[in-house]
Amino acid sequence: MIYGRLLAGAREFIIQAAQPAAVEYGKITDLCDLTSETLKTNPVLLNYAAFSTADNYLYAHTANVIILSQGIALDLGLPREDTRLLSFCAMAHDWGMTEVQELSSKKEYLTDAEFTRVALHSEAGSAKLDTMPDIDSGLKERIKKIVCQVHERVDAKGYPFRLSGKDIDLLAQIIGTADVYEAMTHPRTWREALNPPEVIKLFLEQKSGPVFNLKILKALIHTLSIYPPASLVALSGGEIARVLKPRKGSLTRPLVEILLDAGFAPVQTALLDLYEHPVRDAIARPVSLAELKGKNPEFAAGLESSRWWPEGDE
Ligand SMILES: [Fe+2]
Repeated sequence: MIYGRLLAGAREFIIQAAQPAAVEYGKITDLCDLTSETLKTNPVLLNYAAFSTADNYLYAHTANVIILSQGIALDLGLPREDTRLLSFCAMAHDWGMTEVQELSSKKEYLTDAEFTRVALHSEAGSAKLDTMPDIDSGLKERIKKIVCQVHERVDAKGYPFRLSGKDIDLLAQIIGTADVYEAMTHPRTWREALNPPEVIKLFLEQKSGPVFNLKILKALIHTLSIYPPASLVALSGGEIARVLKPRKGSLTRPLVEILLDAGFAPVQTALLDLYEHPVRDAIARPVSLAELKGKNPEFAAGLESSRWWPEGDE
């Protein structure tokens, strides 16, 4: 199973942060080629980016950021070599987080002092790449730069150097956008996940000027739609459904699976292609996890536990 292989690769890579000299660049890019090639013909792989890993969120987070970055790259028509470089940098983007692991599993929001420590992970991750043996120095410098710039933002409010749009490597901007989308749509120990359409809405609002490159944002939305895979929605008839597959060419008419009736009571699940039934059914609104929990806590708990990737299934 291709997602399982990527996840196993991400797990191994994160563990290797303790001994970066052991990492083989070619092995990582070969693994990432498998997923980028698969995405070209089978976008269902994007659905797997909804999984989380219970033992260490970094494993699935890393695999998911790779897949989402590759989805953006595909939509932008990035050359193959750039996609390989992008994929490796996505794999390495949180390597520095392994040094502040205790903070990433805290149950409360970080204090300012702790946030300052976490913010150092970009440079720490970049520095770890110095000891990788099998990359030529020119390529290594570009990789280090990209990894270091993932948290820079177009509006110059990112870190560590508060660079502005034109000074941030395009590949770092792609990974940065995928990283935020992934993080917000997955739970952390101190907060719950947001429903994907809520995150897309926040991205589109970007009230005080663009935070992300609009070309990249457009590619993300073109790839995932307004209702990305795993979105929870209410249909015009009132039923509650989960998005299975966005439809290329229609941002609002994905394939969905109906899970609950209008009163939030479980029904026999059924697939419904909203593209094929444009008159009868449409998405009326997203349904937040909080609303689902309020109406049917048992079902909400089951749905939440289905996001954990089964351990050992790699
Ligand atoms: Fe990240």
